[in-house]
Amino acid sequence: MRILAVESSCDETAVAIVEDGRRVLTDCIASQVDLHRIYGGVVPEIASRKHIEAIYKLADQALSEANMTRGDIDAVAVTYAPGLIGAVLVGVNFAKALALALNKPLIPVHHIRGHIAANYLAFDELKPPFLCLVVSGGHTMIVDVQDYTKMEILGTTLDDAAGECFDKVARVLGMPYPGGAALDKASQGGDDGKYTLPRSKPGSNPYDMSFSGLKTAALNLIHHAEQVGEKLDIESLCASFSAAVSDTLVSRLVQALKQTGHKKLAVAGGVAANSRIRADVLAAAKELDVQTYMPPLSLCGDNAAMIGAQGYYEYLAGHTADMSLNAYATKSILGEQL
Ligand code: KG4
Ligand code: ZN
Repeated sequence: MRILAVESSCDETAVAIVEDGRRVLTDCIASQVDLHRIYGGVVPEIASRKHIEAIYKLADQALSEANMTRGDIDAVAVTYAPGLIGAVLVGVNFAKALALALNKPLIPVHHIRGHIAANYLAFDELKPPFLCLVVSGGHTMIVDVQDYTKMEILGTTLDDAAGECFDKVARVLGMPYPGGAALDKASQGGDDGKYTLPRSKPGSNPYDMSFSGLKTAALNLIHHAEQVGEKLDIESLCASFSAAVSDTLVSRLVQALKQTGHKKLAVAGGVAANSRIRADVLAAAKELDVQTYMPPLSLCGDNAAMIGAQGYYEYLAGHTADMSLNAYATKSILGEQL
């Protein structure tokens, strides 16, 4: 089954064609990052307009790269939530029009379920059940993936997402948006013990986490140094910050692995590209004799191939939509009725 998949929830317009949920025939992305960089973050109105300008051409490009015509498409999948509402709407309306015109099924896909499904593209042998650490710009959670479309959230951030914190600290350090990858690069070779930064203590749910205290502590440290004219060791600050984020995530993850007894662990989302987090997750999983799945960096960030992968399994589960499908800025990953 060949699914044409559309992703437009933030600042990447993407169209991919994926066969049977596992094989990427083509994966086209038009990034708007350069446009938003001058504002230091995504400007929603600009994002929507640029999605409209890019999406038709991108779909034609995807078909031509895959040597296919519209008639070869068996279904259309689209991110319908969560994201910037005006941006998500562009993809949803495009997908609805295409599905209607081709008289093919329309498959709504939750963006975070898509991030998890990026693992199915990278690892042909991976099947649920497994545990997944989801770390993106807007979400941070530990998910028990019981089946392709059945999941349980074991823990989540109670305030900021890990990606938000990386971007905020990077921005205050003068790094261009989105700063996570730049901060990661700057941390290489730094001393991760040079600056003392807090790790949130487990609350009533041992898998929940918090990052706002860490973010505030890092920002205070930077502002204080500016005020007293102290020169910061940027490499070491970035390394100390990355270690604090990673410790917070990995300590919860270890608890969750022990408690659930899962022997397979996947990571997902843009922040899963972080070198410190990848190394720590790998080491912790090895200690517990858990098999780890980490998609290549190209599949960690937003893309449409992951939407095509998850779309296939949503289709098999009967999760299709009609022309009344709407877009949502927020929506639980748990898959309640549309
Ligand atoms: O999953 P994603 O592409 O978009 C959302 O769904 O949010 O995640 C984007 C986030 C941004 O916050 C970006 O700075 C962060 O992923 N990111 C990183 C790295 N690469 C991307 N954060 C830390 N280290 C990285 N290497
Ligand atoms: Zn994403």
